[in-house]
Amino acid sequence: MDSIIGSQAAKALYFAPANPCHGVKGKMLVVGISGSPRKAGNTEFLLNEALAVAKERGFETERLLISEMKVDFCNDCGDCSKGKSCPKEDDMERILTALQKADGIIVASPVYFGSVTAQLKAVFDRTIPLRRQGSHLKDKVGCAISIGGARNGGQEKTLETVHAWMHIHGMVVVGDDAHFGGIAVRPAAEDRIGRKTVVASANKLCDLLERTAKKESCWGGD
Ligand SMILES: Cc1cc2nc3c(=O)[nH]c(=O)nc-3n(C[C@H](O)[C@H](O)[C@H](O)COP(=O)(O)O)c2cc1C
Repeated sequence: MDSIIGSQAAKALYFAPANPCHGVKGKMLVVGISGSPRKAGNTEFLLNEALAVAKERGFETERLLISEMKVDFCNDCGDCSKGKSCPKEDDMERILTALQKADGIIVASPVYFGSVTAQLKAVFDRTIPLRRQGSHLKDKVGCAISIGGARNGGQEKTLETVHAWMHIHGMVVVGDDAHFGGIAVRPAAEDRIGRKTVVASANKLCDLLERTAKKESCWGGD
């Protein structure tokens, strides 16, 4: 059976236990995705702040920037339902590998017409093999961040879209310990209250990861 990821190297990565340190305290990985097509914009700024929290608390972190990637749309060819790899060759392979290795996932998106960007939605749709081929995101902890140009521009709706993706993958979703997650208005650097909700969301995600962490070593040697 083909893996969901094309190459042999990636195949080994995918079907072997994704992260030998999965769930082991001090070795857990938090992956952050920015859904903005704009490099070094407000979304990436807020994602950096969230990942800095995780790093300070001793988690490993990895950043996936859609502004640096090309991801095509899912066209429902059905290959992944048959256990085959996705025939598309683009940056999705890297994203799937990172998501599968993650213990926690932070998704940040600008608000585009009251929802996530089309680029981020394309990524969401292309994660369907992770669900169809074994619920690989199940029980990972997730939180969401959104930023808009208007104060009430659809940030909560954007978070809902991210949360829907997380719930459909069986993830455990957290907010900012008060409301629904990180919500900010442009320019992000000047939105003190918004940045607080971003930091609080990242802390909440880390709290839950720490609470559920296994205590044993993940070192495989003797
Ligand atoms: C196509 C498009 C649609 C947008 N729609 C909204 C919107 O519905 N509500 C809102 O508050 N801001 C909207 N904005 C503004 C962006 O959310 C805002 O500029 C955000 O900071 C962009 O993030 P970035 O700096 O990471 O690119 C829109 C921007 C674009 C380009």
